[in-house]
Amino acid sequence: MDFELKTLSLAGAAGEKCDALVVLVGESFKVGKDVLSKLAGDALKARDLEPKPGKLLHAYRSEGVAAGRVILAGAGDGSGKRVHAAVQAAVATLRTTGVKRLVVCLPPDAKDDAVRAAVAATAETSYVYVATKSKPEGRVLQKVTIAVADKARHRVAFHAARSAAEGIEYARELGNLPPNHATPTRLGEEARRLAKAHGFQCEVLGPKEIAKAGMGSFLAVAQGSEQPPRFIVLRYQGAAAGTAPLVLVGKGITFDSGGISIKPSQDMDEMKFDMGGAASVLGAFRALGDLRPALNVVGLIPSCENMPDGRSVKPGDIVTSMSGQTIEILNTDAEGRLILCDALTYAERFNPMAVIDIATLTGACVVALGGVRSGLFASDDELAQGLLAAGDAALDPCWRMPLDEEYADGLKSNFADVANVAGRAGGAVNAAKFLQRFAGKYPWAHLDIAGTAWKGGAAKGSTGRPVGLLVQFMLDRQGRAAAKPRRTAARRK
Ligand code: BES
Ligand code: MN
Ligand code: ZN
Repeated sequence: MDFELKTLSLAGAAGEKCDALVVLVGESFKVGKDVLSKLAGDALKARDLEPKPGKLLHAYRSEGVAAGRVILAGAGDGSGKRVHAAVQAAVATLRTTGVKRLVVCLPPDAKDDAVRAAVAATAETSYVYVATKSKPEGRVLQKVTIAVADKARHRVAFHAARSAAEGIEYARELGNLPPNHATPTRLGEEARRLAKAHGFQCEVLGPKEIAKAGMGSFLAVAQGSEQPPRFIVLRYQGAAAGTAPLVLVGKGITFDSGGISIKPSQDMDEMKFDMGGAASVLGAFRALGDLRPALNVVGLIPSCENMPDGRSVKPGDIVTSMSGQTIEILNTDAEGRLILCDALTYAERFNPMAVIDIATLTGACVVALGGVRSGLFASDDELAQGLLAAGDAALDPCWRMPLDEEYADGLKSNFADVANVAGRAGGAVNAAKFLQRFAGKYPWAHLDIAGTAWKGGAAKGSTGRPVGLLVQFMLDRQGRAAAKPRRTAARRK
């Protein structure tokens, strides 16, 4: 889908040749002399339209308007959040129509956040999954014009939003693929393809190389599957070669059956989304390739299936992680932390300025935060603040969770250095405490996206979160990497 930013008043928009016009009408709306604003003014007066997000009024073949369809959409205070809701509601009604060319008219006082929201909501709402349909009927929408009062003011935000939308859509597409298609091998191929298209460095390690690196914990999870594991290393260089990179680590479990600690069959298909962290790293790299910000970024993806088999790892097995720490695997369904811990140790070799892991890690995080905010855990306050702010700005929010030492008590093992599970209470924090043992050498954050990476029910599908947050965070960080000396040890919380 093509996006375009254009300087266009409502008077100009009336003459714009397109299939549909979406006119956002906020609380600060003022009636002018042009047809569209008169239409909106009359509708408001008659109370056929309210300036609240979600409120819509459709008009067809209006006199003096070139577009066949006009949708007046309440946009509240015109903030990013309200504009997102308004555009989402409007574009959703167009999904079953033949609208190919759309113009979205933002209020004249729209800020960058409204521009970003309009792009994100249009892209997100018009997405259609077709990859495994025999008669694919994809997205109808082809060209979207975002009309603003002065396009020069919004160019940077617009470009960022468009690239983020592409990254988000790529992550969604990968997440939605069935687990017999989105295998670890396929993820490795996707990484290679991305690298070739955008000039990233890419290395994909197979079982032998993973064993050679000493990732005994990762391999223990992979050993029950017929699908060989992959450890993906992607490198984007946007700053001087010596500049400490940001490292993104994505959980890439392409199917989580639970292993020997097998899950109930209800909704088990949704465990194809257990590679949402990996997909978000690939999506973030896709956006990086486009935006090319001034920082260095490394992407690490440990990817495998978690399956029951005669060769599977068993409850009680003890494995040695790359860090040298031994782990008693008491529950094979707590596999995410077992593959991430080795990736966190691997990350040390890059002397990172910060490491962020992204994982559909715990059902407990879904209970705690639902599908609205991702769980954020961080050993470094500044990193946490940056991620919280980026999430709010990108309308892809997260919420900070604690890391008190007491939460690690349950991870004690009589037979190894650490156990891979503690009690059910505080499950999301226990998991984060496990990871923290492997992330002591750099500022570290962990995003538990178990509740936000996909939706279940009738709208079942990947959301592409938290690609929006990550892209915003990287843009906020650019240029700063060189200016700031790297801390040698993370401040523990
Ligand atoms: N991938 C799951 C987490 C998950 C479960 C995400 C449900 C979204 C919905 C993870 O590997 C897992 O199984 N975690 C266990 C951990 C437990 C055994 C300590 C969980 O959350 O039940
Ligand atoms: Mn699991
Ligand atoms: Zn899992």
